[in-house]
Amino acid sequence: MIFELNEEHLAVQEAARNFAQNVLKHGVIERDSNMTYPKDEVRQMAELGFLGMMVDPKYGGGGMDTVSYVIAMEELSKIDNSCSVIMSVNNSLVCWGIEEYGTEEQKQKYLPKLATGEWIGSFCLSEPEAGSDATSQRTTAIDMGDHYLLNGTKNWITNGGTSDVHLVIAQSDVEKGHRGINVLIVETAWDGVAIGAKEDKLGIRSSDTHTIMYNDVKVPKENRIGPDGFGFKFAMKTLSGGRIGIAAQALGIAAGAYELSLEYSKQREAFGKPIHKHQAISFKLADMATDIEAARLLVHRAAWLKDNNMNYDAASAMAKLFASEAAMKHTVEAVQIHGGYGFVKEYHVERLMRDAKITQIYEGTSEVQRIVVSRNVLKDNLYLPTTMPELM
Ligand code: CAA
Repeated sequence: MIFELNEEHLAVQEAARNFAQNVLKHGVIERDSNMTYPKDEVRQMAELGFLGMMVDPKYGGGGMDTVSYVIAMEELSKIDNSCSVIMSVNNSLVCWGIEEYGTEEQKQKYLPKLATGEWIGSFCLSEPEAGSDATSQRTTAIDMGDHYLLNGTKNWITNGGTSDVHLVIAQSDVEKGHRGINVLIVETAWDGVAIGAKEDKLGIRSSDTHTIMYNDVKVPKENRIGPDGFGFKFAMKTLSGGRIGIAAQALGIAAGAYELSLEYSKQREAFGKPIHKHQAISFKLADMATDIEAARLLVHRAAWLKDNNMNYDAASAMAKLFASEAAMKHTVEAVQIHGGYGFVKEYHVERLMRDAKITQIYEGTSEVQRIVVSRNVLKDNLYLPTTMPELM
């Protein structure tokens, strides 16, 4: 068993760390306060290849593995989670969904633009009445022969105000339940697509979250991904990989808060010594370091399973569940370690604490992750083969 990163992984880590520390850090507080979309930063992410890391080079991507992707996600998320969620949705949900399940024509048409960041993508599943209960889609895609007629409203859509392409999950045959759901590639520029106001959020404030309305949008049949009725399974498979990216984001938030706390605790003195020499602080740092290490192992293992074509449904849910709970818990502790300084924006930890909360909500709440994990561990020992092969 090898726990070391290889040369390619180390190079990705260094590039992502340099970009985050030297580019993203500049102005991150102001972008967050003013809800300013990180336009220049996203352009630079595209130039560095962060928007299509895993896409096959023949479609303009980086051709890298999922482990490289989570390493980059961790580094960006230590600093700017608005940027890392833009990266995550474009890579894991939109590019991956099209590359894995799209036709050759769909891949050739959309992937080169999405992988290079010329276009940005959105994943449109959530609705006002369908969040965790994703089978209850009210958006309809009615089969009109050569096209679908799309009507409905999607909300909490990441990249909603800036994306050029949407993967829209919609009900085509209500009698078939989740087997009557389809996924369609929709372009923002088409007639009938309308974008609502930007949400004013607790965290990831400069990312672009909007409601999107579809009003009699004509979607050509060739823009359906997969066979008729494949939309719900598409969403579940895609989210299963997406959760690895969000787990890496949560890991980065926890690790960023830890690094800031460690640094601060060495400089800040109280009662005659640096505060990290007080057990009250050193024990907090020990707990943070332990949980971060555990989260990193879960995230890297889920990525490794995906790279090796093994089942990662439970592993990705476990990684997201554990990493997001750790991010929330330890960002609160990071604010506590910083005392009054932790409560002001200049010291960055309050922003990380606010950003941590969304990792327990999007791409499935912590409760949804527990549903996925419990179903997998309870069925047919599915989880054993990759965990303890000697038992089989
Ligand atoms: N792979 C393939 N198929 C899967 C699957 C998977 N990982 N998970 C479920 N399915 C299939 C099942 O096999 C089943 O198919 P059959 O009936 O044909 O056998 C079908 O899907 C229905 O499965 P369930 O009965 O398990 O479905 P459920 O209604 O009980 O829901 C759930 C399960 C896990 C709660 C699911 O609804 C879910 O994941 N909800 C959360 C949705 C979510 O994550 N939303 C996030 C929005 S996107 C976002 O946040 C992006 C962003 O902008 C940041």
